[in-house]
Amino acid sequence: MCGIVGYLGKRNATPIVIEGLKRLEYRGYDSAGLAIIDTEGDLKVFREEGKIIDLERIMPAPEKSFGNTGIGHTRWATHGEPTVANAHPHICCRNQIAVVHNGIIENYKLLKKKLISEGHIFVSDTDSEVLAHLIGYFYEAEHDLVTAVKEALKLVEGTYGIAVICSDNPDLIVAARKGSPLILGIGNDEFFITSDVSAIIIHTKKVIYLHDDEVVSVTKENFEITNIDNEVVKAKISEIDWEVSSIEKGDFKHFMLKEIFEQPTSVENAFRGRLDHKLSTVKLGGLNMTPDEFRNIEKIQIIACGTSWHSALIGKYVIESLARISVEVEYASEFRYKNPIIPPGTIVIVVSQSGETADTLAALREARTRGVKVFGITNVIGSSIARETDGGVYIHAGTEIGVASTKAFTSQVTVLTLLGVLLGRMKHLAPTYGKKFLEELKMIPNKISEILENNHYIRNIADTIKSSTNALYLGRGFNYPVALEGALKLKEISYIHAEGYPAAEMKHGPIALIDKNMPVIAIALKDEIYDKIISNLAEVKARNGRIITIATRGDDSVQDFSENVIYIPETIDVLQPLLSVVPLQLLAYHVADLRELNVDQPRNLAKSVTVE
Ligand code: AGP
Ligand code: GLU
Repeated sequence: MCGIVGYLGKRNATPIVIEGLKRLEYRGYDSAGLAIIDTEGDLKVFREEGKIIDLERIMPAPEKSFGNTGIGHTRWATHGEPTVANAHPHICCRNQIAVVHNGIIENYKLLKKKLISEGHIFVSDTDSEVLAHLIGYFYEAEHDLVTAVKEALKLVEGTYGIAVICSDNPDLIVAARKGSPLILGIGNDEFFITSDVSAIIIHTKKVIYLHDDEVVSVTKENFEITNIDNEVVKAKISEIDWEVSSIEKGDFKHFMLKEIFEQPTSVENAFRGRLDHKLSTVKLGGLNMTPDEFRNIEKIQIIACGTSWHSALIGKYVIESLARISVEVEYASEFRYKNPIIPPGTIVIVVSQSGETADTLAALREARTRGVKVFGITNVIGSSIARETDGGVYIHAGTEIGVASTKAFTSQVTVLTLLGVLLGRMKHLAPTYGKKFLEELKMIPNKISEILENNHYIRNIADTIKSSTNALYLGRGFNYPVALEGALKLKEISYIHAEGYPAAEMKHGPIALIDKNMPVIAIALKDEIYDKIISNLAEVKARNGRIITIATRGDDSVQDFSENVIYIPETIDVLQPLLSVVPLQLLAYHVADLRELNVDQPRNLAKSVTVE
């Protein structure tokens, strides 16, 4: 969601900022803009609705937009429509200071009123514009941009990642964060500011992740990080360990398809180095817990949003079944405001691909203020959630660009399943089970590859349902959350309304929707509850429903009531979700592609939801 890119160095900032903004396109946004200080020392601002390409179209010739200092922004509107006037950068009344902002200024109305009474004139409906005026207000008094930014931020309530430039100081960018991610990139005689490293990785791999309440001032030669109270902060420089190719599509039409096809490798990366064959168990060192601490866990609360919430729900099924520990799964947005009950002996786990989801971060903080240990399962190294938890496990899925999460889901499920086995083996699971689990897990990557070979067949099925207006996804047990995930994938990228249900629950309401037009996608695998789900499907068939079944290879009997069957290889029940979700991802992808929709950037959505 929304992004910031800033450049200060010897090169022309404009193309670097534009290119960086393009790299952030996957995060989702509705308008964009940039500000530079040109060679005359004048502040120039360009803004446009829509895509970066639309912004590029309104840009003057390179010599007219040349400057060594620039900041850019992609906006995901929270306050005010996505118009040119509301696009960032916002500028102060004197046309000297430009600000880009990610986040929400909660007390903007009050601040705006005060500033208007001081004579400031506002031109947008955004909350962000108050920052430009407020910084301008303090700058007039102090004539020091860093001080002005700090004074302004002291009055602000809410979340922000900001970058600020001022035409009086052409050789300076001031940036700060609270709640929204912000990173300083260190190049050779040049610096970058960004909310996401993918924007700058072609220029440098050396970065500093800013913490909340830190302010960095960057000049051509150097940088200094201080906190709001003016204390100097000694920052740690981190090295990005992934390559540019990981954020490029290669031969795939879309990032989502590429990421679906990466799953044999990404799942393997999630368990690599974590299997203990000698003791037939699993090691998760990042949790920093002793065996006794593990054994004393009486309850687990898992908190997440969206797809990560679905993987958390699979985690509940797995951990409860293998470790007999009660697991509660909460939406982060609910947890944070509901005065949650956290009994003694509870640990909290937050699951987040991006590690920046605002609701999940707030829930984590709420849990920690109650003195409970919080662990993170995240993908993005150095993300806010990774930093603020007591310990955690990286899923190592690699950068996920498609807004619809796919490989991160299977990697999260892998890690949660590992946790289930680890806790189970600490308690009562027999070593023979541990051994069987490890053997089966090692075969999962190849089994995913086998499913991917059905890509064309699944596209043909997608063609038969692409004009539907509704779809129902059914599953039971471990595959019930997979049904939820399949439905979410379809709705977010194809805009077809879809619901996921535990199959037996269908007869308590949704069965009324069934007719010959609505596809019912059922996961009916050979396991303990196979017969039960078959009965549920018979109920659909009796009402002329059209059924697409995900079935275990070799199960011919499902043919009788299915319009199409997608066969997947057999595995043990706790590992089934890692296989059964793959055809559902492909189905959603092909439906959206056949409908000629923007698969990687579906409307209204953002990759990383850093606002409430
Ligand atoms: C997934 O396809 C979604 N676009 C979305 O639900 C996502 O899973 C959710 O916003 C949580 O994101 P996170 O994992 O980065 O916290
Ligand atoms: N709240 C600001 C706005 O609506 C910033 C949104 C964003 O983070 O892009 O303009």
